[in-house]
Amino acid sequence: MAGFVVSPKAKQRHKGTLVGLYVQPTFRRLGAARRLLDAMVGHAAGCVILLHATVTASNTAAQALYRQAGFARYGTEPQAIRVDGQFYDDDLLVLDLLRRTP
Ligand SMILES: CC(C)(COP(=O)(O)OP(=O)(O)OC[C@H]1O[C@@H](n2cnc3c(N)ncnc32)[C@H](O)[C@@H]1OP(=O)(O)O)[C@@H](O)C(=O)NCCC(=O)NCCS
Repeated sequence: MAGFVVSPKAKQRHKGTLVGLYVQPTFRRLGAARRLLDAMVGHAAGCVILLHATVTASNTAAQALYRQAGFARYGTEPQAIRVDGQFYDDDLLVLDLLRRTP
């Protein structure tokens, strides 16, 4: 699964956000996420010019996936989430849909 969100605010309609990318453990490492992400980027390119995503800094699988798709990190939110008392940083990523290589 994956979600694509565009703000209804007029000044923010040029950008979208990818959310909730998830593949069930049984089906991982088979290329599902890459195909899902490719489809999502293709869809987003028809709607917006910037695609944002947030990924936990320590999530090496998702980090590699997004970097391969051309996303670039433009910042890091410290202590963005807390799970069982442990804080985790989030990397803020963006893909320029006008400059990407299809
Ligand atoms: C991250 C996630 C979506 C990857 O799904 P997947 O279907 O297994 O990914 P794919 O098989 O399409 O792999 C695509 C690329 O992702 C990277 N990747 C995927 N799993 C990886 C792992 N365990 N370790 C390192 N890199 C990994 C690799 O670069 C891979 O390319 P490669 O196969 O050429 O090496 C999946 O592990 C998941 O649902 N994790 C839990 C939820 C999550 O972290 N979502 C991301 C939130 S930002």
